[in-house]
Amino acid sequence: MTIRNRVLTGITTSGTPHLGNYVGAIRPAIVASQRDDVESFYFLADFHALVKCQDPARVQRSTLEIAATWLALGLDPDRVFFYRQSDIPEIPELTWLLSCVAAKGLLNRAHAYKASVDANLASELDADAGISMGLFSYPVLMAADILLFNAHRVPVGRDQVQHIEMARDFAQRFNHVYGEHFEGGAAPFVLPEAEVDASVATLPGLDGRKMSKSYDNTIPLWLEAPAMRKALLGIVTDSRAPGEPKDPEASSVFAIYQAFASAEETRGMRAAFAAGIGWGDAKKQLFERIDRELAPARERYQQLMRRRDHVEDVLCAGARKARARGAPFMQALRAAVGLRPLGAMAKLPVVGQSDGPPAAASAAARDTVQSAKAPTFKTWRERDGTFHFKVIDSEGAVLLTSVAFASAADAGKAAAELKRGAFALSTADGRVSMDGAALGTLAEGVSLDAVHEALAE
Ligand code: TRP
Repeated sequence: MTIRNRVLTGITTSGTPHLGNYVGAIRPAIVASQRDDVESFYFLADFHALVKCQDPARVQRSTLEIAATWLALGLDPDRVFFYRQSDIPEIPELTWLLSCVAAKGLLNRAHAYKASVDANLASELDADAGISMGLFSYPVLMAADILLFNAHRVPVGRDQVQHIEMARDFAQRFNHVYGEHFEGGAAPFVLPEAEVDASVATLPGLDGRKMSKSYDNTIPLWLEAPAMRKALLGIVTDSRAPGEPKDPEASSVFAIYQAFASAEETRGMRAAFAAGIGWGDAKKQLFERIDRELAPARERYQQLMRRRDHVEDVLCAGARKARARGAPFMQALRAAVGLRPLGAMAKLPVVGQSDGPPAAASAAARDTVQSAKAPTFKTWRERDGTFHFKVIDSEGAVLLTSVAFASAADAGKAAAELKRGAFALSTADGRVSMDGAALGTLAEGVSLDAVHEALAE
């Protein structure tokens, strides 16, 4: 059984965190990140922010606020991957590779894009009026976020599920087209799954609808205590007077209380509703409960907002850590699609020597080349008495250097098996194994694919 334990999610940096974000996304994510059996990736999706927000100061401010929020609430950057999307150049790079396998027809059906087109048509405007390529290809960028780290699970809201489906589609296409060219002939991408957690509360906002920036009914997370108290007093209620029993299930005050309170506290509040607690009192208790949970973190948040250089350092360290994972993978993806160092080319299509027409020769160079010759094996004995061999291609470039063998016979046997292609080769960090046993090291810039191609001669 494989454990699908890599979890990744992004937070668009175009606004100020509110209570709904905290309860619905941030708090459960931080709890999940404390488990030892998951690897968590949380990042600030600032490239995505540019799609909806063209106010530079606001993008920057929101990035700081969101980063400070996660840190203040206890996210441990040493335990997780916590970074800013725009610090990872491999993300836009992968976006392009995916764009080239992504079907435009699929993107045409993306909800956010379609909603904009429909709105245009309803207003008798041109279908594409005001629609940027950023909005159109938003799902491709999002797929790159996920696939660069081969996340298994992506916790998101319902509105994002379609994007994860698209990421799976692009991943599948890429695996199909390039899988056999990828290191070891394996499919490069894991197919990610959306995770919509039904047990996590969706918080109602001031007006009783889901708390959301687009409804303008949010309560900012980090209001100072007096402002928080005042905001909570603004929650819409019915007109029942103190002493009249109230229905907890129909009340935003109760729903928000429940999202912060223990089961026992919630039972107490339910009883108070039945006994006719006045709305003013209920809201006062709500404030006190929320303040108890948030006050210590608010202190840390305010400190972090003053220590911007520190937050910047944390994000830069996070980016280094994330790139250490993503950059070698991107390198292998580049090689798979044919963006390769020229020196490592195993065979060149020679114009005029191919059987097929020239176009076919270059399109399928690996199959139609006539001029390539078999690689040679060079064996030698080291001073310490161990035996080694090298695989050298027909142009004299070293492809692979073997590990040390105790005897000439052992080295010869490994070389013979490699020549016969009897066993499966695999590679990790440039080290090649044959049938699971260490075989040697690839030369700089040489892929396993190139070795396979040379050996096939
Ligand atoms: N589009 C997501 C949202 O608006 C944010 C996001 C960007 C994201 N990239 C992601 C979420 C990758 C999950 C995985 O909520």
